[in-house]
Amino acid sequence: MPNFHTEVLNIPSLPFCEDGYNFCWAAKHKNSTLILVKKGSENFFLNIYSRNGSFLVKGEKISRPTQVIYLQEALNIFAKHSNAKPTFSNIKPASNRYKKNSTILKDIDFFAQNSFTNKDEILLEIGFGSGRHLLHQAKQNPEKLVIGVEIHKPSIEQVIKQCDALKMENVVLIDYDARVLLEFLPSNSVSKIFVHFPVPWDKKPHRRVISDSFVDEAIRVLKQNGQIELRTDSDLYYEYSLEIFNNFDKNSVKVIKNQDIEISSKYEDRWKKMQKNIYELVLTNKISSDEIQTPNKLIFNKLNFDRIGDEFKSETYVRDDFFVRFISLHAGSNNLVIKLAFGDTQKAEQTFILVDENGESCYFPKSIYATKANREVHSLIRGLLLDE
Ligand SMILES: C[S@@+](CC[C@H](N)C(=O)[O-])C[C@H]1O[C@@H](n2cnc3c(N)ncnc32)[C@H](O)[C@@H]1O
Repeated sequence: MPNFHTEVLNIPSLPFCEDGYNFCWAAKHKNSTLILVKKGSENFFLNIYSRNGSFLVKGEKISRPTQVIYLQEALNIFAKHSNAKPTFSNIKPASNRYKKNSTILKDIDFFAQNSFTNKDEILLEIGFGSGRHLLHQAKQNPEKLVIGVEIHKPSIEQVIKQCDALKMENVVLIDYDARVLLEFLPSNSVSKIFVHFPVPWDKKPHRRVISDSFVDEAIRVLKQNGQIELRTDSDLYYEYSLEIFNNFDKNSVKVIKNQDIEISSKYEDRWKKMQKNIYELVLTNKISSDEIQTPNKLIFNKLNFDRIGDEFKSETYVRDDFFVRFISLHAGSNNLVIKLAFGDTQKAEQTFILVDENGESCYFPKSIYATKANREVHSLIRGLLLDE
């Protein structure tokens, strides 16, 4: 993460603008000062830490922009305007470092806005790993849209590079929890869901991809006669999944053992070398489901600027399925920045809530959507912050 250290720093008067970078306002909490920077559609914070008379200035992790060069350029401009004399710095941007953003990687807004059309026949691969199977499907089915969902960033980057090199036009990738992504897909829209060699999570079964609620939601998004294809080398996971699949009695379930498919993934190759059994479970959906509304953005009506400024406390609220932790409050003359963590204890997310002097408030840097898990979180936050 680019940063610089300096013994001298005079925060310039805000707002000011240079080279399209808008330095909007500052908000302070203890030894940290956040500066909101806007550049085109990028909105992010610089964070100034002061300690023993010296300063460390860097980008704030939660609001990291899409390309590191935005941070480097913003830090350079800020260093100049604050008369900093860096004793250490790694903020010099190399020339021509703006990368063309790959159009293959989408964020959740794309799905929330239902940007792919219902005309597309959709294949969905969950946890695509090295992408071998996903690319195979995309090449074999140029007329179909292949959506790949994965949470392991290096795998995603690797597959983006391969898709860009191969100029694949029918692939869309997303870095998201597949279990939640399903809530954003229209009913009766997907012809096949591949779940190949999911992590068995024997000690933490609640982290498994397959569960009753997953299959329920998968059946909703599958077309009639659409299928979930699960492959696993784990006896336990196979038995566990078979029991769940059989709970859905209007569907048919087929079990195939040790049958090769056209393309073998890295994991599959490894297990075959070890002569493990490979189980394939195929659930065929027999029903047509009602349409649902895609989750909306969660919004606030109005928060009370003065009251939050006076009464904010760092506190954690734990409920059966989730928690909310109010971490800190940065205060500026016209803006407040609440930092919070929320989610289930295995998969916590961090975000900010910005509140302006008129009470206008929003999640930052990204919208948060009304998924099943987030609805309760948002309602607790609104209650605690006395949203009017
Ligand atoms: C054991 S690997 C298998 C990868 C690939 N399917 C293969 O057969 O080589 C399981 C993959 O699922 C991904 N994964 C685990 N939980 C996930 C979730 N909730 N949503 C999306 N991907 C997930 C992991 O990051 C990992 O890359």
